[in-house]
Amino acid sequence: MRILVTGAEGQLGRELLHTAPTSHEVTAYGRAELDITDVDGVESEIARRKPDLIVNTAAFTAVDRAEQESELAFSINAEGARNVSRAAMAHGARLIHISTDFVFDGARGRPYQPDDPPNPQSAYGASKRRGEEYVSEETGGSALILRTAWLYSRFGSNFVTAVLQRMSDGRPLRIVADQVGTPTWARGLAEAIWRAATVTQLQGLHHWTDAGVASWYDFAVAIQEEALSCGLLRQPVEIRPTTTSDYPTPARRPPYSVLDKSITWSGLAIQPPHWRAALRSMLLELGEAKDV
Ligand SMILES: NC(=O)c1ccc[n+]([C@@H]2O[C@H](COP(=O)([O-])OP(=O)(O)OC[C@H]3O[C@@H](n4cnc5c(N)ncnc54)[C@H](OP(=O)(O)O)[C@@H]3O)[C@@H](O)[C@H]2O)c1
Repeated sequence: MRILVTGAEGQLGRELLHTAPTSHEVTAYGRAELDITDVDGVESEIARRKPDLIVNTAAFTAVDRAEQESELAFSINAEGARNVSRAAMAHGARLIHISTDFVFDGARGRPYQPDDPPNPQSAYGASKRRGEEYVSEETGGSALILRTAWLYSRFGSNFVTAVLQRMSDGRPLRIVADQVGTPTWARGLAEAIWRAATVTQLQGLHHWTDAGVASWYDFAVAIQEEALSCGLLRQPVEIRPTTTSDYPTPARRPPYSVLDKSITWSGLAIQPPHWRAALRSMLLELGEAKDV
C-alpha cells in the first residue's frame, strides 16, 4: 500500500513515521513539501503519487492563537481538509482525517458519543468541526474521521514537555483542575491509525484516546510523580490546583471533554492503556532518548 502522511513534522506525524509498518510505502510530507491550503499543489501531488491512503494530520493547533487568527485556522483546518478530501476522492485514495474533542462544548458531564451534537466554543474547535463537515461531504462519508484529545509525545512541544521544563527549572505550577479529559500519548493513536489503515475499514466519525479520565491538574501531578520515579526529575516543585476563571485564556475550552471510545476500540480490536501507564512509557522513552 502507498500511504501519504501530511503534517509529518507535527507530533502525531512523527509518531506515525516512528511506528510505520515496513510492509507499506509511506511518504511523509511536512508543511514545506505539501501545504494543504495550496489547492493546486495538493491536487498535483496526490495525482502524481497516487496513494492508496492519505492520513491528514496537518492542522493549525494553536488553540489560543486561533482566536486572533481564525481566518488562518479555518483555511488550514477546514479548507485545507477539504482540499485533501477532494484530491483523495479524485484519485481513489482512502482518507483518515484527525479531529478533536474541542468540537464539543463540554457541558454534558458524560463521555461524548461520536454522534452527539457538536457545539464548538472556540475558533479552533469551530475550524476543526467545519473540517469534519467538509471531509464527510467530499468523501460521501467514506473517510475515517478520528477525534482525539490532549495529545502529547516526546516529539514536539506539548503539555508534558512544557510542564517538565518548568519542573526542571524548579518553578512552581498552578494548573486548572476544572477541565477534565483524557491525556493521550500520540504513539498509541499512531498505532491505532496504522491498524485502521491496514486491518479494518472503519468509516465516519470515531473517537480515540487512551483510557481513563483526568483534570489538567491530575495530569501535571502524575507527570511529576512519574518523572521523579524514572529519574527525569530530581526535585519536586509545588503544584497548586486552580480554576479556569482564575486562569483565563483567549479560547474557551470544554470543561468536560471525555470521549466515548467503545465503538472504535472494539472496531479496531485494541484496548489502549490507561493514560497513566501510557505516560509512564513515554517518560521512560524520553529518559532513554536523553541518555543517548
Ligand atoms: N495536540 C493536541 O492536543 C490535539 C488534541 C486533539 C486533536 N488534535 C488533532 O490531532 C492532529 C495532530 O495534531 P498534533 O498535535 O500532531 O499537531 P502539531 O504537532 O501542531 O502538528 C501539526 C502539523 O501540521 C503542520 N501544518 C500546519 N499548517 C499546515 C499546512 N497548511 N499544510 C501542511 N501542514 C501544516 C504543522 O506545521 P507548522 O508547525 O509549520 O505549523 C505541524 O507540523 C491535528 O488534526 C489536531 O487538530 C490535536
